[in-house]
Amino acid sequence: MPDIKDLCDNKKCIYIINGPNLNMLGKREPKIYGKLTLKDVERDCIQCAGELGFNLAFHQSNNEAHIVRWIQKASEEADGIIINPAAFTHTSISILDALKIFEFPIIEVHISNPHLREPFRHHSYVSKVATGIICGFGTKGYTLALHAMASLVYGQNT
Ligand code: DQA
Repeated sequence: MPDIKDLCDNKKCIYIINGPNLNMLGKREPKIYGKLTLKDVERDCIQCAGELGFNLAFHQSNNEAHIVRWIQKASEEADGIIINPAAFTHTSISILDALKIFEFPIIEVHISNPHLREPFRHHSYVSKVATGIICGFGTKGYTLALHAMASLVYGQNT
Protein backbone atom coordinates (compact mmCIF):
# COMPACT_ATOMS: atom_id res chain seq x y z
CA MET A 1 0.00 0.00 0.00
CA PRO A 2 1.67 3.32 -1.05
CA ASP A 3 2.33 5.86 1.66
CA ILE A 4 -0.08 8.80 1.38
CA LYS A 5 2.94 11.18 1.29
CA ASP A 6 4.22 9.45 -1.90
CA LEU A 7 0.84 10.07 -3.48
CA CYS A 8 1.43 13.78 -2.83
CA ASP A 9 4.44 13.76 -5.30
CA ASN A 10 6.68 14.72 -2.38
CA LYS A 11 4.96 18.10 -2.40
CA LYS A 12 3.85 19.40 0.98
CA CYS A 13 0.15 18.92 1.61
CA ILE A 14 -1.82 21.77 3.15
CA TYR A 15 -5.37 21.55 4.42
CA ILE A 16 -7.56 24.66 4.39
CA ILE A 17 -10.59 24.08 6.63
CA ASN A 18 -13.55 26.47 6.87
CA GLY A 19 -16.31 26.47 9.46
CA PRO A 20 -20.00 27.35 9.50
CA ASN A 21 -21.63 29.95 7.26
CA LEU A 22 -18.48 30.49 5.22
CA ASN A 23 -20.31 28.67 2.39
CA MET A 24 -22.45 31.85 2.31
CA LEU A 25 -19.54 34.18 1.48
CA GLY A 26 -20.57 36.71 -1.13
CA LYS A 27 -24.11 36.86 0.25
CA ARG A 28 -23.25 36.96 3.96
CA GLU A 29 -22.82 40.45 5.46
CA PRO A 30 -20.72 41.65 2.48
CA LYS A 31 -19.66 44.82 4.34
CA ILE A 32 -17.82 42.57 6.81
CA TYR A 33 -16.87 39.55 4.70
CA GLY A 34 -16.61 41.02 1.19
CA LYS A 35 -18.15 40.08 -2.12
CA LEU A 36 -16.11 37.03 -3.10
CA THR A 37 -17.74 33.62 -2.79
CA LEU A 38 -16.05 30.64 -1.16
CA LYS A 39 -15.57 29.18 -4.68
CA ASP A 40 -13.66 32.39 -5.62
CA VAL A 41 -11.52 32.02 -2.48
CA GLU A 42 -10.89 28.34 -3.25
CA ARG A 43 -9.86 29.21 -6.84
CA ASP A 44 -7.39 31.87 -5.60
CA CYS A 45 -6.02 29.43 -3.01
CA ILE A 46 -5.56 26.63 -5.59
CA GLN A 47 -3.61 29.04 -7.82
CA CYS A 48 -1.50 30.38 -4.96
CA ALA A 49 -0.85 26.88 -3.56
CA GLY A 50 0.28 25.71 -7.02
CA GLU A 51 2.75 28.62 -7.27
CA LEU A 52 4.11 27.78 -3.82
CA GLY A 53 4.48 24.07 -4.66
CA PHE A 54 1.77 22.81 -2.31
CA ASN A 55 -0.90 20.19 -2.78
CA LEU A 56 -4.09 21.67 -1.37
CA ALA A 57 -7.21 20.16 0.20
CA PHE A 58 -9.91 22.83 0.62
CA HIS A 59 -12.90 22.03 2.86
CA GLN A 60 -15.93 23.76 4.36
CA SER A 61 -18.63 22.44 6.67
CA ASN A 62 -21.34 23.74 8.94
CA ASN A 63 -20.92 20.59 11.04
CA GLU A 64 -18.37 20.51 13.88
CA ALA A 65 -17.91 16.71 13.57
CA HIS A 66 -16.83 17.04 9.92
CA ILE A 67 -14.23 19.62 10.92
CA VAL A 68 -12.87 17.39 13.68
CA ARG A 69 -12.65 14.49 11.20
CA TRP A 70 -10.72 16.60 8.64
CA ILE A 71 -8.27 17.74 11.31
CA GLN A 72 -7.75 14.10 12.32
CA LYS A 73 -7.20 13.16 8.64
CA ALA A 74 -4.75 16.06 8.32
CA SER A 75 -2.73 14.50 11.16
CA GLU A 76 -2.16 11.48 8.86
CA GLU A 77 -1.38 13.28 5.63
CA ALA A 78 -0.89 17.05 5.90
CA ASP A 79 2.14 19.23 6.59
CA GLY A 80 0.14 22.27 7.67
CA ILE A 81 -3.40 23.36 8.48
CA ILE A 82 -4.94 26.75 7.68
CA ILE A 83 -8.23 27.00 9.53
CA ASN A 84 -11.01 29.55 9.71
CA PRO A 85 -13.25 27.85 12.29
CA ALA A 86 -15.79 30.72 12.00
CA ALA A 87 -18.19 30.71 14.99
CA PHE A 88 -16.61 27.46 16.31
CA THR A 89 -13.50 29.58 17.02
CA HIS A 90 -15.26 30.92 20.08
CA THR A 91 -16.95 27.73 21.31
CA SER A 92 -15.29 24.50 20.26
CA ILE A 93 -13.14 22.53 22.68
CA SER A 94 -13.41 19.50 20.36
CA ILE A 95 -11.73 21.44 17.52
CA LEU A 96 -9.04 22.63 19.97
CA ASP A 97 -8.46 19.03 21.13
CA ALA A 98 -8.23 17.73 17.54
CA LEU A 99 -5.72 20.47 16.66
CA LYS A 100 -3.62 19.53 19.71
CA ILE A 101 -2.93 16.16 18.00
CA PHE A 102 -1.59 17.86 14.85
CA GLU A 103 2.21 18.18 15.00
CA PHE A 104 2.85 20.70 12.20
CA PRO A 105 2.10 24.42 11.71
CA ILE A 106 -1.45 25.68 12.23
CA ILE A 107 -2.49 29.11 10.92
CA GLU A 108 -5.78 30.56 12.18
CA VAL A 109 -7.47 32.86 9.66
CA HIS A 110 -10.34 35.28 10.10
CA ILE A 111 -11.66 37.43 7.29
CA SER A 112 -12.71 40.16 9.71
CA ASN A 113 -10.81 41.32 12.79
CA PRO A 114 -12.83 39.68 15.60
CA HIS A 115 -11.15 41.95 18.17
CA LEU A 116 -12.88 44.98 16.65
CA ARG A 117 -16.26 43.25 16.94
CA GLU A 118 -18.59 41.99 19.70
CA PRO A 119 -16.90 40.86 22.93
CA PHE A 120 -17.99 37.21 22.41
CA ARG A 121 -15.71 37.14 19.35
CA HIS A 122 -12.64 38.21 21.32
CA HIS A 123 -11.88 34.76 22.74
CA SER A 124 -10.51 32.01 20.49
CA TYR A 125 -9.90 28.41 21.58
CA VAL A 126 -7.92 27.85 18.36
CA SER A 127 -5.44 30.64 19.15
CA LYS A 128 -4.20 28.51 22.06
CA VAL A 129 -2.58 26.10 19.55
CA ALA A 130 -2.14 28.28 16.45
CA THR A 131 1.40 28.89 15.23
CA GLY A 132 0.17 32.23 13.89
CA ILE A 133 -3.01 34.20 13.32
CA ILE A 134 -4.06 36.30 10.30
CA CYS A 135 -7.18 38.43 10.67
CA GLY A 136 -8.70 41.61 9.32
CA PHE A 137 -7.35 41.39 5.75
CA GLY A 138 -10.58 40.19 4.17
CA THR A 139 -10.56 37.04 2.06
CA LYS A 140 -6.96 37.90 1.03
CA GLY A 141 -6.05 36.44 4.44
CA TYR A 142 -6.18 32.94 2.95
CA THR A 143 -3.44 33.53 0.39
CA LEU A 144 -1.46 35.52 2.97
CA ALA A 145 -1.72 32.41 5.16
CA LEU A 146 -0.46 30.20 2.32
CA HIS A 147 2.62 32.44 1.95
CA ALA A 148 3.16 32.37 5.72
CA MET A 149 2.79 28.57 5.60
CA ALA A 150 5.45 28.37 2.86
CA SER A 151 7.93 30.22 5.03
CA LEU A 152 7.08 27.92 7.95
CA VAL A 153 7.32 24.61 6.09
CA TYR A 154 10.05 25.45 3.56
CA GLY A 155 11.81 28.06 5.65
CA GLN A 156 11.71 30.50 2.74
CA ASN A 157 10.67 34.12 2.44
CA THR A 158 8.04 34.17 -0.27
C1 DQA B 1 -14.93 34.81 11.24
C2 DQA B 1 -15.17 35.59 12.53
C3 DQA B 1 -16.09 34.81 13.47
O1 DQA B 1 -16.32 35.55 14.67
C4 DQA B 1 -17.43 34.57 12.80
O2 DQA B 1 -18.25 33.79 13.63
C5 DQA B 1 -17.30 33.96 11.44
C6 DQA B 1 -16.24 34.42 10.57
C7 DQA B 1 -14.12 35.62 10.21
O3 DQA B 1 -13.63 34.99 9.28
O4 DQA B 1 -13.99 36.84 10.32
O5 DQA B 1 -18.14 33.16 11.04
O6 DQA B 1 -14.20 33.64 11.55
